[in-house]
Amino acid sequence: MYKTHQTCRACGYGPPPSAIYSKCDDGKQKLLSVLDLGVLPLPNAFRKAGEPRPGHYPIELLVCPRCKLGQLSAVVDPEVLYSNYPYVTSPSHMMQDHFRALWKRVNLERKIETVVEIGSNDGLCLESLVHMGAQRVMGIDPASNLAELAQARGVITLTSVFDRKAADMVSAAMPAIDLVLARHVFCHVDDWEDFIHNLLWLCSRETLVCIEVPYAQNTIDECQWDQIYAEHLSYLTLRSMEYLLDCSPLRLQAVQSFPIHGGAIALFLRRNDSEVKRHDSVQAYLDAERCALSDWERFALVARDQITNLKLLVRDLRDQGKSVVGYGASAKSTMWINCMGLNEKDIGCVYDTTPQKWYTTIPGTKIPVVPHGSFYADKPDYAIVWAWNFLPEILEKETRWRQDGGKFIVPVPEIKML
Ligand code: TYD
Repeated sequence: MYKTHQTCRACGYGPPPSAIYSKCDDGKQKLLSVLDLGVLPLPNAFRKAGEPRPGHYPIELLVCPRCKLGQLSAVVDPEVLYSNYPYVTSPSHMMQDHFRALWKRVNLERKIETVVEIGSNDGLCLESLVHMGAQRVMGIDPASNLAELAQARGVITLTSVFDRKAADMVSAAMPAIDLVLARHVFCHVDDWEDFIHNLLWLCSRETLVCIEVPYAQNTIDECQWDQIYAEHLSYLTLRSMEYLLDCSPLRLQAVQSFPIHGGAIALFLRRNDSEVKRHDSVQAYLDAERCALSDWERFALVARDQITNLKLLVRDLRDQGKSVVGYGASAKSTMWINCMGLNEKDIGCVYDTTPQKWYTTIPGTKIPVVPHGSFYADKPDYAIVWAWNFLPEILEKETRWRQDGGKFIVPVPEIKML
């Protein structure tokens, strides 16, 4: 159900995958293990009573001493991870603002008319781009339940993982692609060389590729340890991308950060023979990037403190007779609840707006996920914001509850009450 991966997927550092006698034995060529969270359930395995559960998997973060890429030591079979996938892009204001900002950026050098999105989820992004002026769009996503939602909004979607066959089919259907978008999908990919190779089949000299991922620098600086879970195989540094693309026909042409998902970075790639020059932003970001091994190690220590401190706070509130719930049944909520070892006596339930998650339980627990609508009627005393990446709009939405005495607990970057 999973395989181990001990070699850096960006720069190749570490023992070769099949080595029986490797330099690994003398410790010199090992990726460094910085955070071992033990064996945990899949974070998006929200299941109803009686539905089969996909089991538990090791979550250990390794860091490459050379390019500072963070990656998981275990790669779960994608079939297990994605065949029943409840994650849908949050249709929030922040997300719509992000799509607008992204659209403005990708149109800077040349007007974009045709867009292909890899990992297009329920088609929300492509639909928004059409409203903003894209003429032709097409999505690729392996989850058939999501592809159906996308088709229902009029977004043509190929139900497939992004492999060579899918690349061929898309390039046949869309001969001139101005923009290839891959939002929060590259960090889910195990074989990066293969991905880049397949990407090339979609790229002409003029094509712009935009890969958006959480940025390791943010993960470290904001101690967003709860983004480390089975689906996120890699935690990208720019240095790792430079290594990866070194011998490929694609190059890093520009970089820009965006506030979405608690701090993401968009990597703009073009073919080496493109006439568009490398933007100053690439060097500026490379110069500013730290992500040293010592930074990763410090991050791991703070993460452990955060877990202990939130657990103590919840137990303390419970002992005072207060009701504590979760707000947002995100993958992050699964990580927190399981790493804290809390149960349904500690966290009464988790409210969420996604119908696909309602009446399931938080993976690994009996804590129910309930519709957001009952939040007002239930009037809990404390709600832990596990969709903290949408905090500003959540605060705005729940003004009345807060005025009535309800308190939010925000766990990242440090625990605070609002
Ligand atoms: P998200 O942060 O997008 O991702 P991940 O699962 O990768 O950590 O998940 C946010 C979850 O929170 C999602 O299930 C929708 C839910 N949510 C609410 O319940 N209320 C809200 O106001 C928002 C913005 C999200």
